Amino acid sequence: MPFPQERPRRLRRTEALRGLVRETTLAPDDLILPLFAAPGQKVRRPVGSMPGVFQLSVDEVVAEAQAAYDAGVRSVILFGIPTRKDATGTSAWDDAEPVQQAVRALKERVPGLVVMTDVCMCEYTDHGHCGVLKPAKVGAPGSELVVDNDATLELLVKEAVSHARAGADVVAPSDMMDGRIGALRAGLDQAGFDDVPIMSYAAKYAGAFYGPFRDAAESAPVAGAGIPKDRKGYQMDPANAREALREVALDVAEGADMLMVKPAVPYLDVVRQIRDRYDLPLAAYHVSGEYAMIKAAARNGWIDGERVLLETLLCCRRAGADLILTYGAVEAARLLTGRR
Ligand code: PBG
Ligand code: ZN
Repeated sequence: MPFPQERPRRLRRTEALRGLVRETTLAPDDLILPLFAAPGQKVRRPVGSMPGVFQLSVDEVVAEAQAAYDAGVRSVILFGIPTRKDATGTSAWDDAEPVQQAVRALKERVPGLVVMTDVCMCEYTDHGHCGVLKPAKVGAPGSELVVDNDATLELLVKEAVSHARAGADVVAPSDMMDGRIGALRAGLDQAGFDDVPIMSYAAKYAGAFYGPFRDAAESAPVAGAGIPKDRKGYQMDPANAREALREVALDVAEGADMLMVKPAVPYLDVVRQIRDRYDLPLAAYHVSGEYAMIKAAARNGWIDGERVLLETLLCCRRAGADLILTYGAVEAARLLTGRR
């Protein structure tokens, strides 16, 4: 009877041996916590589809970020629920709106924290698209309007400069317009913010995983005459991976400092391909739908939610992500460090 010569199980015998040969690590400072900044005072409005996630007034953003920091999470990314919306999203670059206020408060009250901001128009436009609309010359059936790429670039620059003026450490454009990284780099430099890095949502896919986020940020495209019903005209087709490499090449050439793939788990092949070809820091966004699925199954007792969360984040790291944006950042950090 032939016994095996190679016995990989030898190195799996004890936790210490397994730790010694472990290839991938997951640490609290790999994680970025998304927060939703809303108007008001003492507001903590739960997001139904995302247990543990809230729309927070600026004072509560500070409290939440401080708790995250104390748990070892050193970075947050801010999304905005503005006081007003209009066709061109003018509240996006208003220095008095919740995101700008939250950035200023965080830089003052939690000085060690890395404060990133999401730069996009969908939270600020009344139609919910990630840019301004114009009549389509060559449209798609049913949508007479399209997002005007180049007009949107000018607005994104205003928004990013406003975030930088408030003190943002990193700006993160998520709109998927062509040429936005070049436009933002030039605009930031011109305004004197040449030290502010850009984390590009380089490969962002149009899909069904953002539903809970759109509840949280109140940013779903609005149904209306001529308005495109989804974001497929600018976000990527889930079928495409080579195209992601092209998007990344453009963003690198235009001056991106960090790259991101979004969503995370269904797109880990894309994470791996980008990691193998580029040397910039790479983030994966474990998005709202991915988080909601874990929470829902755990609530039903169908999976062990804590273990699935940690395994999910570790697997993002194994695929090549340096950083992970996740609504489970604080929970994961506490599980990793044993701090409660
Ligand atoms: C804004 C933006 C979205 C997300 C991040 N930035 C929503 C969208 O593109 O519709 C999604 C994040 C998540 O689902 O957790 N463009
Ligand atoms: Zn958007």
